[in-house]
Amino acid sequence: MIPKETISSIFEASRIDEVVGEFVSLKKRGANLIGLCPFHNEKTPSFNVSPVKGIYKCFGCGKAGNSVNFIMEHEQLNYPEALRWLAKKYNIEIAEEEQTPEQVIANNERESLYVVCSFAQKNFTETLWETDEGKSVGLSYFHQRGFTDETIHKFQLGYSFDKWRGFSDAAITAGHKLDYLVKAGLTISKESTDPVQPGQEQQPRFFDRFSARIIFPVHNVSGRVIAFGGRTLKTDKKVAKYINSPETDIYSKSKVLYGLYYAKKRIVEEDVCFMVEGYTDVISMHQAGIENVVASSGTALTVDQIRLIRRYTNNITILYDGDNAGIKASFRGIDLVLEEGMNVRVLLFPDGEDPDSFSKKVSSTDFKAFIKENTKDFIAFKAQLLYSESSHDPIKKAGLIKELVESISLIPEPIYRSVYIKECSRIMDVDEQALLSELNKLRRKKQYDTPAQPREEFNAVPEELLTLPDGEKPGRKITETQTEHQERDIIRILLNFSNEKVSIDSETEEGEKEVVEVSVGTLVIHEISGDIEFENPLYRKFFHEFITHEGEELSNDYYIQHPDPQISGTAIEILTTPYQLANWEKHNIPVNTESMMLKQSVLHAVYALKIRKLEKMIHDNQTRLKESSSYEEQIILVTEQQYLIKSKQSFSALLGRIILR
Ligand code: CTP
Ligand code: MN
Repeated sequence: MIPKETISSIFEASRIDEVVGEFVSLKKRGANLIGLCPFHNEKTPSFNVSPVKGIYKCFGCGKAGNSVNFIMEHEQLNYPEALRWLAKKYNIEIAEEEQTPEQVIANNERESLYVVCSFAQKNFTETLWETDEGKSVGLSYFHQRGFTDETIHKFQLGYSFDKWRGFSDAAITAGHKLDYLVKAGLTISKESTDPVQPGQEQQPRFFDRFSARIIFPVHNVSGRVIAFGGRTLKTDKKVAKYINSPETDIYSKSKVLYGLYYAKKRIVEEDVCFMVEGYTDVISMHQAGIENVVASSGTALTVDQIRLIRRYTNNITILYDGDNAGIKASFRGIDLVLEEGMNVRVLLFPDGEDPDSFSKKVSSTDFKAFIKENTKDFIAFKAQLLYSESSHDPIKKAGLIKELVESISLIPEPIYRSVYIKECSRIMDVDEQALLSELNKLRRKKQYDTPAQPREEFNAVPEELLTLPDGEKPGRKITETQTEHQERDIIRILLNFSNEKVSIDSETEEGEKEVVEVSVGTLVIHEISGDIEFENPLYRKFFHEFITHEGEELSNDYYIQHPDPQISGTAIEILTTPYQLANWEKHNIPVNTESMMLKQSVLHAVYALKIRKLEKMIHDNQTRLKESSSYEEQIILVTEQQYLIKSKQSFSALLGRIILR
């Protein structure tokens, strides 16, 4: 590990013209330098170096970066290696942090655990397919449960012999250290063995954790095996149905979702993640052609697991067994999901069915149709479930209203909160105003230390000004979301202008109009945060950086030299893409001051994002409405739709009234 301060000194010392100059012959051109691009073949120079900004950009192939990126790319080094390269050039001593012995060992040890787990998976799979016991016990069980060979292979299922240490012995014979087998949770070792009575068999000093079980390997998001679940085939109640790997250096139960590796691509494509309870549910659903499914493996959902899902989608649908006694117990976990700003929907299976059994009973098409028709919005689901229980007991009902409003108060999007309050008031037959005041009380408590958002009115700007500033075409990458273009625009504005001042009309507490100066950064942050969560994870990360440093007037170097290469890369890419404020003059509109022009662009970008976001919500809602066959749901959706359209209209009107003064 290179200490942070040293990294800063390396960045400070590394002059881009000198670093690039080691490999490229550069000529001065204005404030910049220009040369032949080392990353693609060219005859006329299009490789630009800006000493002022500390960055390079090739207008031929598009490669851009700072000194560190240049060395990484040119010398094919990773980040720390590139830093070392530069440190050497500038004679900067790197006092390595204690990483030396322990951390090196720790890193190697983690790697060893992966190796051992991978060996174990292969060994269990081989045992399943190629031994008599594996075939007659394990494989026949899987077949009897309706798993096809293809499915069994896909999930790398296996079998562990009914022996004390069938697996451990095989692993040791293959050269694996007992120590790592134990640390990976595959082998249990007994420190001291009890004295052996005459005639009694000596218990081995170590033995297999998973003996006599069918094996479900657990993969991390990149597909490496990190843990196992073993199911007994005995019906003996005294034997635990499942045994799972303990927490290890590579496996933390609360941060892993079973099946995510196999599901992630489909989750992105379908833009929804199904949550089920167990290994077999995940596997059966895959076999039924529903692949965007993960399991929390019998534990309550954790925040880490939710964030894992949020990398891929904002929508979670929780699938409950028909006889699930744990539905109410799961509500707390669901509140966590709401709090993360995700949309939660719920699907209840018929009595006695779970995803596994149901998928075996109906065709794949019917299963999909069932999901479509029976998925309910969580808040409405909770309201109905609790309401049916509290029926005519006013005290119970009061408690339940409070509980519901608490759930609603966690939702970050104000628009959704308001829709749910309306809905709740309808289902529960309580005054909407009463719910709202309860909600506001809770929100205030929650936002105790977040500053209030300044709001102001804007006046008119002609329609023709409302074209989007030129930018790259959207829809380039598959991961691009529909608001990505607008989000990028906001980041672009923040990077270019966040410390500039603009005047806005405001009102004093006494209601008098006044003009105040704020920085573009503050204006944007207060317009957007709390209302909108960026969809593109990278821009979201970026925006949070801006929020964290609001008012600090950081220079762009902060972002260009950011230790997170994703952030520095994007900052460089944006800063090197030519960008001009929308050219108001072109439209024959007199623009008085630079600052006025800036303000228009900023507000334009903010409202464009808000409108775009609303359009997306309206569109999603429309789709849901078309697909919905439940009358209750339709009412919710229609109410929601009206509200969204109204909000969009008011923002469009605002966009049309950006003042020129
Ligand atoms: N589980 C566990 N330990 C247990 C029981 C359950 O870890 N003793 C976890 C497993 O991850 C399991 C999930 O909880 O997959 C759901 O439990 P259950 O529905 O009982 O198991 P299924 O996977 O559905 O197994 P089967 O269909 O074979 O009964
Ligand atoms: Mn089950």
